[in-house]
Amino acid sequence: MARMEGKTVLVTGAAGGLGFAIARTFADEGAHAVLVDRDAQRLAQSVEELRAAGASCSSLVADLSEEDSIRALADEVCTAHASLDVLVNNAGLAYGEIASGFFGLGFAKWQHYLAVNTLAPLLLAEHLRAPLARARGLIINQSSMASNVPGTAYGVTKAALNAVTFGLASQLAGEGVRCVAIAPGMMETEASTGALGDEAMARLTGMQLAPSRPGSPSDIAEACLYLASREGSFLNNLVLPVDAGNRLRGYRG
Ligand SMILES: NC(=O)c1ccc[n+]([C@@H]2O[C@H](COP(=O)([O-])OP(=O)(O)OC[C@H]3O[C@@H](n4cnc5c(N)ncnc54)[C@H](O)[C@@H]3O)[C@@H](O)[C@H]2O)c1
Repeated sequence: MARMEGKTVLVTGAAGGLGFAIARTFADEGAHAVLVDRDAQRLAQSVEELRAAGASCSSLVADLSEEDSIRALADEVCTAHASLDVLVNNAGLAYGEIASGFFGLGFAKWQHYLAVNTLAPLLLAEHLRAPLARARGLIINQSSMASNVPGTAYGVTKAALNAVTFGLASQLAGEGVRCVAIAPGMMETEASTGALGDEAMARLTGMQLAPSRPGSPSDIAEACLYLASREGSFLNNLVLPVDAGNRLRGYRG
């Protein structure tokens, strides 16, 4: 039997990249996947692709940098789904100035980066507390190996997300809800290869221990599936590196 039969999973930032791979992997295992993104057009294409493959899925457009939009999203989810087995907070800002900048960004940019990467996962978990509790569910926050060396705004937002993960695990334990983070290394997605280019991708992949192959979205999706499966059900309150040992080599963004 498929491992996620009868389960419902919500994945943010699921229009492409790691989020889409996670949604597809859970749907392949029989789950109903709710795909969320701010990019309505790409989201519609991704949902169409999943449906064509026979998946059970639905989509909701939301801008997770806006508190009203997070609340409206949660209201729609609560109306449609009495229980939610897995919430994957994957949406994030990862490329461009956030990944290189630290000083000189100013208050507004820091607020925006922290809103999307750190606070949206916290608020979405808060507003989806009831359906998560009904399922005795799991929250997976998409962190990064950059959280180990927070020398960029990106690293700071993901290090703070790790702290949010520990906070949620402790706050929601009484309701039977677990909360973990995954810290991917260098994974090949359209966005990462497009933003970093071949040379930087090769340099960062070259910092791995083993295996030396580039990380793929399915590496992350399979890790999420493990955490949500019976086999991973004793794991809680942790940040799981999925990076071929990259963080151990003194990663610098
Ligand atoms: N690819 C990697 O190597 C890597 C490594 C470590 C961590 N990550 C993390 O994994 C996640 C996905 O990365 P990716 O490479 O697939 O990038 P991506 O840009 O393809 O995915 C991010 C998704 O989030 C969505 N999004 C961004 N802001 C949003 C908002 N305000 N509201 C709703 N949706 C929003 C985007 O539209 C996009 O679909 C990110 O959180 C990133 O930080 C990626």
